Order: sequence, then structure tokens, then C-alpha cells
Amino acid sequence: MMKVYLETFGCQMNVSDSERIASVLASDGFEMTPDENIADVVLFNTCSVREKAEHKLYSRVGQIRKSKVRRPVLGVLGCVAQLEGETLFKKSDGIDFVLGTQASGRVSKAIENVFKGQKNYIDLEKREEDYDWTVAETQRHSPYVAFVPVIEGCNKFCTYCIVPFSRGREKSLPAADIVRHIIKLRRQGIREVHLIGQNVNSYRPMSDIKLEKFRGATAFSKLLRAVAETGMERIKFATSFPRDFHPDIVEAINENENLCNWVHLPVQSGSNEVLRAMRRGHTIESYLKKVDAIKNSPRKLSLTTDIIVGFPGETKKDFQDTIKMIEYCRFDSSYIFKYSPRPGTPAFDIADSVSPEEKKERFMELDELQKLIQQEIFKSYINRTISVLVEKISIKDSSQFSGHSTCHKVVNFKGSNDFLGKIVNVKITEAKVNTLFGSVI
Ligand code: SAH
Ligand code: SF4
Ligand code: F3S
Repeated sequence: MMKVYLETFGCQMNVSDSERIASVLASDGFEMTPDENIADVVLFNTCSVREKAEHKLYSRVGQIRKSKVRRPVLGVLGCVAQLEGETLFKKSDGIDFVLGTQASGRVSKAIENVFKGQKNYIDLEKREEDYDWTVAETQRHSPYVAFVPVIEGCNKFCTYCIVPFSRGREKSLPAADIVRHIIKLRRQGIREVHLIGQNVNSYRPMSDIKLEKFRGATAFSKLLRAVAETGMERIKFATSFPRDFHPDIVEAINENENLCNWVHLPVQSGSNEVLRAMRRGHTIESYLKKVDAIKNSPRKLSLTTDIIVGFPGETKKDFQDTIKMIEYCRFDSSYIFKYSPRPGTPAFDIADSVSPEEKKERFMELDELQKLIQQEIFKSYINRTISVLVEKISIKDSSQFSGHSTCHKVVNFKGSNDFLGKIVNVKITEAKVNTLFGSVI
């Protein structure tokens, strides 16, 4: 049997795509292997969101091709594949085929064509109408947590971002399919689903089927209620786009215990000038109103965000506004990135005016502030009891288990094997910056 090694970079959507790529390959008679050294085929599912992510591909291709003894077939999939297309064959020696973000369902055909002798095989075409969005049970990233795409693509065109170019326009999956998918996952023993998409709350399906009887001003809040009704024990969703974040989402959470205590709402900057230049579609005032609605929920929702420092033209004053915003919002966690110019995006043509040193300084200052706030928030959990899905045994110590709370914090505790896959109550005894520790009660 032909062995395939698949390595994934990037966001949850890429992880989810890889699960389906592996499912297709397994059903077409390939064997997935975690060992690149014995693989007949090596696949990279790539990310292009920042320059560093893209560079990883080139260095990995170089490593694979260093070996003079073995020459596995090498395929590039995902966002870099879609963006670079043909040029990848020139840019990086030794790539056999390139498959775009919507062509992954045809991966077996690509491999077969290369084995038949076809050179520089490429497919950047659209997804097939009857594309199968389900994942084989054997190919999931977790036996207890499943990713469920609800919308793909992005129409927002934030000026720094490559995603609309690599993923195409927004397309919502039919609610009836999503609900059916989740009912099936529940039967298979999945305890937690993550509804995923670049902007889940921009969800706008072609038909109302399965949503008719649910309340809500937006289709997404109706979808949340429909998914809650499946009885799936824990439901999380990411990412939410601030402009489209309607208070009906918080209402849906308040009314359904199984919608979890977590909202990821990327703000990007605390300055209205920078937000305008980024074309985010929200102001800091409108963002803070949404934050207030989230913080006023009786459910004690945790709030996380993404921030970019050093966007072209970001002044010291703009940066101070971001600091003030962080102090106000007190995020449970935040992903902070240094601006990385991406060719093809509108911002690429504006001079990258903040020097690398200044970017680094601003990054470190925000990171420090965030850690300080985060440590206080995490400490406030000490002596509280929270519900945790037990997902993993620690590699270092087999009596240590770890999982996520409903508010999406990593929690470590002592346990035994029969805890795996169960939802347990953990009393928190200790808090580090990114992790809580406790014991099961
Ligand atoms: N759709 C999501 C996230 C997309 S990418 C959203 O709109 O929020 C994830 C994060 O990467 C973004 O939120 C942004 O903070 C960061 N990012 C995107 N492009 C970037 C760039 N060119 N440089 C640095 N960070 C970037
Ligand atoms: Fe990128 Fe903006 Fe779309 Fe998010 S909403 S994927 S940041 S263009
Ligand atoms: Fe990266 Fe593509 Fe996701 S660029 S962040 S893998 S959508």
C-alpha cells in the first residue's frame, strides 16, 4: 500500500481540510503515515497568512529533497498553492504537483497522474458540487472534538490580508447538512464541536431549511440555536467578525447551556485611524459596545482576540490607543502578530513604515501587558470549579491529563485513563499564564 505523509500549517480550516484530505486518501487505498522517512508521497497543506508561514514550506521542501536516496512524490496544497500556482514549480525545486484550496477533494487523482509520469501537475479549480464535507472517524485530529466548517472563504478584504485571495468568496454550507453532520458526530461519541469559518457570523445560507423555527436577527444565531438543539454537549465557534457580531449571538449563548462560554473577536487595533486603513468595517467604539454585551452576559463569557502591531502608518499615539483598548477589554488571551506585508494585498503597496525594531518593541510591550492581565484573570479561577473535557494524557507524565474548559482554557489535572473523553468538574488550585491546574472533584 502506498504511504502518504501529510503535514499541516495554518489555521483550523487547514487542519479541517487535512482531515478530509486524509479521509479521501484512505478511502482511495492509500495509507497515512506519521513518518516522512518511509512515505511514498509527502504532502504539505500550506499557509500564507504571514511571510514566515510561507517560508516554512520552502524550507520543508528543501529538507525532503536533501535526501539523495529517496525521492517521494511531493505535493503542495492549501493557501500557498492557490496563490502561487504555476510559479511554485520555478520557485522551489522538486515539487511534483500543486493543488489549490478548493481542489483538495481531487488529491488522489493528482497523485495518480504524477505516478503516471505527468510533470508539474496543477489543479486550482473550484470545489466539486458534491464535495463530501465529512471526516472518516480514523482521520480526526481528536476522538472527542470535531471541527465542522459552516462557511468557507472571505469577502472582507481587510487591506493586510491574503485570505480572500487564497480562499475565494464566502460560501455558507446548508444548515440542514450542518445539523445532520453534528447529529452523526454525536452518535459517534464526539463531545465537542467547533463551528469553523474565516467569519462564522457572516453565515448566510441559500436556503432557510432547518432554520425556520429558530429565533434570532441573523442566520448565524439561528444556526447556533439549531445546532444547540441537536444535544451536542459542547459547541464552540470561531472566528467572529466584529462588524457582523450581533447581540443575538450573546442571547443565543445565554439561552443554551451547550453553547460554550467563549467568543473569539479579533479587534486588530485600538486606533480608529489604523482600523480605517485596515478596512476592518468597525470602529473602536462599535467594537467596545460588542465587548460590553459579551461581558454583561450572566454566563461569564471569556473573550479572546487577534492584534496586529506595526501596520503601515501606525503612530506612537495609535499604539497607545491599542494599549488603552487592551486595558479596557481585559482579554482572556490574545494572539499578537507583527505586521507582515503580503504581496497582492492593498497594504503591500503602502510603505511598511514601522521599522523592524519598533515593531519588535511594540510587540513585546503588548505581549507583556497581555500576560499581566491574563495572569490576573487566570488567578481569579483559583478555588473555582469548572467543567473540563478530558482530551489528552501528558506525554511526560501518564498520570497528568489535560483538556479545555467551556471558556476554552487549557486545564491540567491528575487523573486515570478512564477519564479520557469524559466531561469532569475540576477545582482550580494553581494558575500559570496560559494554563490552569486543578483536581477532579
Ligand atoms: N478571519 C479571521 C482571521 C484570519 S487570519 C479574522 O478576520 O479575524 C488570523 C489573524 O492573522 C488575523 O486576525 C490577523 O490578526 C492576522 N493576520 C492576517 N494577515 C496578517 C498580516 N499580513 N500580518 C500580520 N498578521 C496578519
Ligand atoms: Fe482576513 Fe479580514 Fe477576511 Fe479575516 S475578515 S480573513 S482578517 S480579510
Ligand atoms: Fe493560513 Fe490560509 Fe488559514 S493563509 S491562516 S491557512 S486560510
